[in-house]
Amino acid sequence: MKIAVLTSGGDSPGMNAAVRTIAVSGKGRGHEVVGIRRGYEGLLEGDAIPLDPAGVDSITRLGGTVLGSARSQVFPTPEGQARARAQLKALGLDALVVIGGNGSLTGAHLLGADRPVTIVGLPASIDNDIGHSGLAIGVDTAVNTIVESCDRISDTARAHRRAFLVEVMGRNCGFLAMRAGIAAEANAILYGEKQLSEDELVDRLRQVLRRCFGPGQAQKRVLILKSESVTVPTARLTKRLQEHLAEDAPGVDIRETVLGHLVRGGNPSALDRMLAMRLAYAGIHALEQGIHDVMLAWEPPGGHGRPTADPSVRIVPLAEVLEETKRLLDGSSPVIQKRMELLSQAEDLLTI
Ligand code: F6P
Repeated sequence: MKIAVLTSGGDSPGMNAAVRTIAVSGKGRGHEVVGIRRGYEGLLEGDAIPLDPAGVDSITRLGGTVLGSARSQVFPTPEGQARARAQLKALGLDALVVIGGNGSLTGAHLLGADRPVTIVGLPASIDNDIGHSGLAIGVDTAVNTIVESCDRISDTARAHRRAFLVEVMGRNCGFLAMRAGIAAEANAILYGEKQLSEDELVDRLRQVLRRCFGPGQAQKRVLILKSESVTVPTARLTKRLQEHLAEDAPGVDIRETVLGHLVRGGNPSALDRMLAMRLAYAGIHALEQGIHDVMLAWEPPGGHGRPTADPSVRIVPLAEVLEETKRLLDGSSPVIQKRMELLSQAEDLLTI
């Protein structure tokens, strides 16, 4: 087979480990492998380069994506779809591996509708907002980066007895804030799925400040993790809390930090490298079996989808992935309900 691989959408740590595995195991199993540069944008231009094992040596440890990425506006249009199909043909491809998040997997499903080549997707997005994907490539590194950043912020916060509101990426999904918040000993975690109004958020945080910093309280810092999925701007929330500080936490100051793209970069953790490699390896096997329009998912044994030879990797049709993704984002998925239930139970303990 002639197999192409592309990375698309927001880059995530571990994408390079997946690319290298496709190149090395593809070649080792007798296939020709090419890399498409700049995601679907590059596909529209037929921008392919040979991917030999020597050329991808040592890229596993690198953050970002050596192939480059893009968010293509043209690819989903009828004109873009026709151009992409023409380029698949012109490049003489038999198969395509798409590594990316929601938008990229939606694109893979669209392109695969009439099976121009065999297509599989690998979930890669720091947001962890992809249906039937327990852990996407990049999530673990992003969580570790947030926790490390919060530890540093906590050092300086403790020195001055301050409160910090730290905003983290995640688009419409609160997963990063939830997981990192627990690990960093946050005193409150704000996530969009809870759909609190601005006034409700302010009330909740005032309670937290009073409990931690009120008269007789010995706490040295307050850490509040706020997900990007909460639409109230972080600076605005901080300002509103500042207006009540004299009453809620006398003598204490509150500051804000937006971690932004810092959370998306950096060398991938060992877990991200390993799961990216195992998903990619299973992807090559799926292509060899002619399995089309699916995502390889990092799921517990017995989870959704069909099993593979790897007990942690399952095969899920992209149509099912995209349906479940919608449910994750509108909050109707049992996965979200369970996450919120567990976090609500922990909420009272966070301020202790
Ligand atoms: O989807 C990954 C992500 O990093 C989100 O967390 C964030 O909202 C978005 O991408 C930012 O995208 P961009 O870098 O294109 O502005």
